[in-house]
Amino acid sequence: MTDLLTLQKSFILAHIKEGDTCADFTMGNGHDTAFLSKAVGENGRVFAFDIQPGALVSTKKTLEGEGCPNNYVLINDSHHNAKNYIDTKIKAGMFNLGYMPGSGNKSLTTKRETTLPAVKGAIDMLDSGGIVLVAVYPGHEEGYLEGIMLEEYFKTISRFEMSVSKFQIVNSPTSPYFFIIEKK
Ligand SMILES: C[S@@+](CC[C@H](N)C(=O)[O-])C[C@H]1O[C@@H](n2cnc3c(N)ncnc32)[C@H](O)[C@@H]1O
Repeated sequence: MTDLLTLQKSFILAHIKEGDTCADFTMGNGHDTAFLSKAVGENGRVFAFDIQPGALVSTKKTLEGEGCPNNYVLINDSHHNAKNYIDTKIKAGMFNLGYMPGSGNKSLTTKRETTLPAVKGAIDMLDSGGIVLVAVYPGHEEGYLEGIMLEEYFKTISRFEMSVSKFQIVNSPTSPYFFIIEKK
């Protein structure tokens, strides 16, 4: 069976190398932050964002537990403010939309009004040859609507500047799916 998480990582890894700068726009428990931190190594940089202070605590624990290099900045702010913190181009940006797994507080989910400017901002920050990955969870209403909104926006991007692809299990429409945006 195709494992979408493994597939996501393989796309990201094809675009980054030691020393690159990346961002995890939805930190949660820090699994994507840890993946990026290890991939870019001690000379790289990873900026990670979450609106929940608890995500920073949980992510720090994940990063230390996994022995990640000290190359990360954990930021307690919304991802649509990322430009206030990132002063350079990025090679990869990851969004895992939805709510923090295991938190019990499903009201702190990502929302269309901040997701759209955040995704646009991440695309603006992309270095040439860079990638933004957006994982969508259509099993809850806001996630379903975020996916529709993003797809409408992605259709408007010039194919001469970016390639936008979608990976979805077509016979399981409520399962998570993801978009990748690759800058030419
Ligand atoms: C599905 S979880 C992310 C999982 C995470 N990548 C991991 O590896 O554990 C989505 C996260 O997005 C966060 N979030 C919601 N709205 C946000 C916003 N406007 N800016 C940044 N993070 C936000 C939630 O608090 C939640 O922790």
